[in-house]
Amino acid sequence: MILLKNHNFIHRSEAKTDIEDRGYTFGDGVYEVIRIYNGAYFMLEYHLNRLQYSLNEVGINYDVESEDLETLLSELLNKNTIEDGAIYLQITRGIAPRKHPYPTNSQPELYAYPIPVSSPKKEQEQGVHLTLVEDLRWLRCDIKSLNLLYNVMVKQKAVDSGAYEALLYRSKDHITEGSSSNFFGIKNGKVLTHPANNYILNGITRIAVQKICKSQGIPFVEKVLSVDELAELDEAFIASTTAEVVPVTKIDDVVIGDGTVGEIAKKLQAGFLQLI
Ligand code: PDD
Repeated sequence: MILLKNHNFIHRSEAKTDIEDRGYTFGDGVYEVIRIYNGAYFMLEYHLNRLQYSLNEVGINYDVESEDLETLLSELLNKNTIEDGAIYLQITRGIAPRKHPYPTNSQPELYAYPIPVSSPKKEQEQGVHLTLVEDLRWLRCDIKSLNLLYNVMVKQKAVDSGAYEALLYRSKDHITEGSSSNFFGIKNGKVLTHPANNYILNGITRIAVQKICKSQGIPFVEKVLSVDELAELDEAFIASTTAEVVPVTKIDDVVIGDGTVGEIAKKLQAGFLQLI
């Protein structure tokens, strides 16, 4: 496997992390997971825009455009000849003695490398179950930060309870998103999802869903759902780079609609396949 480290291409065996990399000591960095279909990046521009947004918000001095990251990522793809998969990319604030304030002279450290990803076909066809868990993350979930401790804790909770994903809520009146996905309800033909603000990550797949809704004439409404409203939904689904569009048939004891994969979710899945 060939990795991109800053501006250089190296072998996996040459990749080393300094113990004082701030990504390692403070989780001081940001990341992206970018899907590859048929040997090409999917919605790369959107990922690079979000990456720049995250970098700006945490004050890491890295300019995606002037570093020509797009060209470097194309080269990375060519060197690894990936047909179907993903690239994991992270940028940390760099290496410096462990002191909390931003160091004045550290250089951002970038790593990008292929990770195996394949579409969860069974889940997409049959639907999945979710479990509700309180959202105790910080209030800047719009930043794609390396700090995923609570996300991994609640994902494990979901796995332990036999669910595919944790559905997070700030209060009974405020459902946010999944531990690694966005959540959507469908009611009376409308797709309902949390507004893109500091409580959720504005998913690139969420943007793809928005585009598909527009092209198919399905209303896409940004609305905060409550826990009680889940029982009233006709359909539900989650979406992410790795899951794509996965229908939800049950949330804890609440059966969604008639408990089978709904028609609108199927339409969105078909639209997604067309998009890629
Ligand atoms: N996670 N919300 C959270 C908290 C996420 O971690 C993700 C993605 C999403 C969906 O974003 P996108 O559509 O851009 O993938 C929403 C990635 C896949 C991960 O951490 O592996």
